[in-house]
Amino acid sequence: MKPIIITVDGPSGVGKGTIAMMIAEKLSYKYLDSGSLYRSLALKLYEKNNNPENILENLDESINDISIDFRYKKGEKAQVFVNGNDYTNKIRTEKVAIMASSIAKDKRARDMLEKYQRSYLTDEGLVADGRDMGTKVFAEANIKFYLTASVEKRAERRLNQLKDQGISANLPTLIQKLLLRDKADTDRLISPLIPAKDAIIIDTSEFSAEEVFNKTINIIRDNIKNI
Ligand code: DC
Repeated sequence: MKPIIITVDGPSGVGKGTIAMMIAEKLSYKYLDSGSLYRSLALKLYEKNNNPENILENLDESINDISIDFRYKKGEKAQVFVNGNDYTNKIRTEKVAIMASSIAKDKRARDMLEKYQRSYLTDEGLVADGRDMGTKVFAEANIKFYLTASVEKRAERRLNQLKDQGISANLPTLIQKLLLRDKADTDRLISPLIPAKDAIIIDTSEFSAEEVFNKTINIIRDNIKNI
């Protein structure tokens, strides 16, 4: 029997990571945060190169020297390692997010990460979040969610996350940054951010994570027998 795959795509700050992880926990499936792979590759290329303007310069030489390993265990925080070094926390900056969005336009980078993402799938079942999980990498997924929310709401949530981490930020700047990244992710030629034709679209603007999770789990139970 083929493993069950659930994809959760959407723009940045929409809460897809939280929801995807809650679904994975509930169903005891594997979880994959594909954005963390783009962030890790971007940061590693930057560290090798130290030229933010052109981190893809050495991609061809570097591609065989970079090994990315995403790890998730039920009930624990997901982690990502690059060549054995823990990158989990250091990829979570806005600077790395912008670099990730920029390398995400490159076919070589996407092919490398797609291979990894496919190899991550096992019989256990998978919940994968990102931009092209349902349209490209796991196009055969059993259920595809596409989460949206107003940019104001997404920026507000990001502001609160940052506040919790003791980092100060302001709403207009966060809105600007989100809009720029949305544009880069939507306008790119390969695997742009777009809902899959068969995706279930959920606007999360007015709902808590718990409420969105309940919606998704009900849809999953209605569509997949024996879950
Ligand atoms: O989900 P995130 O914010 O961590 O993703 C960072 C960037 O990586 C995002 O702006 C675009 C890129 N990305 C992508 O192109 N495809 C994915 N499946 C996931 C992320």
